[in-house]
Amino acid sequence: MKATVSRKAHFNAAHRLYRKDWSDDKNNEIFGKCNNPNYHGHNYELIVSVTGDIDQVTGFVVDVKVLKEIIKTEVEDVFDHKNLNLDLKEFKDLNPTAENMSVVIYNKIKPLINPDLDLEITLYETPRNFVKYSGN
Ligand code: NI
Repeated sequence: MKATVSRKAHFNAAHRLYRKDWSDDKNNEIFGKCNNPNYHGHNYELIVSVTGDIDQVTGFVVDVKVLKEIIKTEVEDVFDHKNLNLDLKEFKDLNPTAENMSVVIYNKIKPLINPDLDLEITLYETPRNFVKYSGN
């Protein structure tokens, strides 16, 4: 029997979406307000979902205490109250879109969980806009 266990987390962060190799006009056309040179913030909501067999001994798919600690160490402590462009090496040359952030978060968490488990990242950039990434 398989089940999916999810844990929610939250962080605030600032970013700017732009490409150094594009003109200001092109950046404004594609990224709009998110290209504001002085950055802007979002209240990100993160859902980390883990799918796998229910362990017959513990009744768990994953120990949520452990998952909580991984999310705190790998995501909240790293992303919260940061300027993603300036403070995180991962986004030095990578636009910190919700899509790319989801991939970065997935790649940080995946090596730390049981390889038999499937991982899915859901990242809300606004209450209405969210991205899912599960390693494909
Ligand atoms: Ni933005």
